[in-house]
Amino acid sequence: MAARFDPEHLSAAFSRVRDLSLALAEPLEPEDQCIQSMPDVSPTKWHLAHTSWFFETFVLAGPDFAPYRSGWDFLFNSYYQTVGEMHARPQRGLLSRPTVSEIQSYRRWVDERVLELLARGASDAQLRLVELGLHHEQQHQELLLTDILHVLSANPLAPSYRREPRAPSPSEAQALRWIEDPGGLVEVGRDLDAPAAGFGFDNEGPRHKRWLEPFAVASRPATCGEYLAFMADGGYRRPQLWLAEGWDTVCAERWTAPAYWRAADPSDTDPSDTDPGSWSIFTLDGQRPLGLDEPVTHLSYYEADAFARWSEARLPSEAEWERVVDGVVRARAGTDLRATANLLPLTGEGLASAALHPEAASLREADDETSGLAQVFGEVWEWTASPYAPFPGYRAPPGAVGEYNGKFMCNQMVLRGGSCVTPADHVRVGYRNFFHAPKRWQFTGVRLARDLS
Ligand code: AVJ
Ligand code: FE
Repeated sequence: MAARFDPEHLSAAFSRVRDLSLALAEPLEPEDQCIQSMPDVSPTKWHLAHTSWFFETFVLAGPDFAPYRSGWDFLFNSYYQTVGEMHARPQRGLLSRPTVSEIQSYRRWVDERVLELLARGASDAQLRLVELGLHHEQQHQELLLTDILHVLSANPLAPSYRREPRAPSPSEAQALRWIEDPGGLVEVGRDLDAPAAGFGFDNEGPRHKRWLEPFAVASRPATCGEYLAFMADGGYRRPQLWLAEGWDTVCAERWTAPAYWRAADPSDTDPSDTDPGSWSIFTLDGQRPLGLDEPVTHLSYYEADAFARWSEARLPSEAEWERVVDGVVRARAGTDLRATANLLPLTGEGLASAALHPEAASLREADDETSGLAQVFGEVWEWTASPYAPFPGYRAPPGAVGEYNGKFMCNQMVLRGGSCVTPADHVRVGYRNFFHAPKRWQFTGVRLARDLS
């Protein structure tokens, strides 16, 4: 059995991941942890409970198992119909009970039992489910942060998540370069039967062939300054630049800028305003001046697509993205590109110095000096032009965990690369994130692509 299933290794990983969730909640008051500011957002304490429910339900439960509290499975089941009925997602913010401290006790109860199981000797199936539960919890760590950002943004006091905000490091964006690829017949996706490959979600495979025409991708994600030029050129006023659904959303939501951008002078909401000084942005460190060299973030798919069209470019397909990044990862074998990327630290101690917001490219070395490719991991999730659909040969796994990814393969778009709040060891080349096209409360951005010839 691979080292990743060694019970001691898993116990250490379990403690580390579970501790980080608590560390992420630590700066928050109980009042902060109960709010659901929109249907997509879950309260902090719900994330803390749901991730525990996952271990309780899929690892601990069995014949003669007494659940921690009756009725909690209904509250903290997210969407697993196989397991039973569930509380309505948009109502998660109405749960004043159980309290934050009761949920912390629930976490300790689950932790003790999972660690005891690992020490006593768990079955292979249980070890795999513990591993899945840890990757699940890491997904919720990112959601906890993006959700609390939305919660705090709804407060006119513009509170900071961090007690001691970290000043953004002033830096310049790298000049944009185009990285060319001849395309051809390529293999993408993960070989689900290669145990050495480490963990991957079911939706990342099977490995399969794709045909790519010659293409180029941008060396780094688009910046706020570049996006501001799109805005100044009437980006949000020219329906010709938009997909029909995108334009309808712009009109219905009255979008004039990415989410969390705020006009410094609220009476001056001219969307064509190019003066960077007239915009600020709400971040996990509260409101601050817009950094023109930082990757633009909190874009919907529609905005990423319209910006690309205005730029006389397009979004990359996920196969193009993977082809280019996989090439760099292979060329740099032995170096973990994630180690220097702007991702979420894995321990509470690291949080004080974490950026928790995208940073200008020059702050980090180019991931690959030969090609000049930068910021492929971390910073912002990059919208691709690919619909979230099963790869050829995909089968959802049997049982309740088969509901994890497969049933969402309709009407969502794939994002690649990870963000500044993705746990640093969570993302990988083949990782497929997915969201609906209008969503923009995650750290979502855009890396341009274009056809060659
Ligand atoms: C992959 C981020 C879209 O938010 O539902 C959490 C992650 N899956 N629990 C989501 C997830 C199960 C998922 N995303
Ligand atoms: Fe979940």
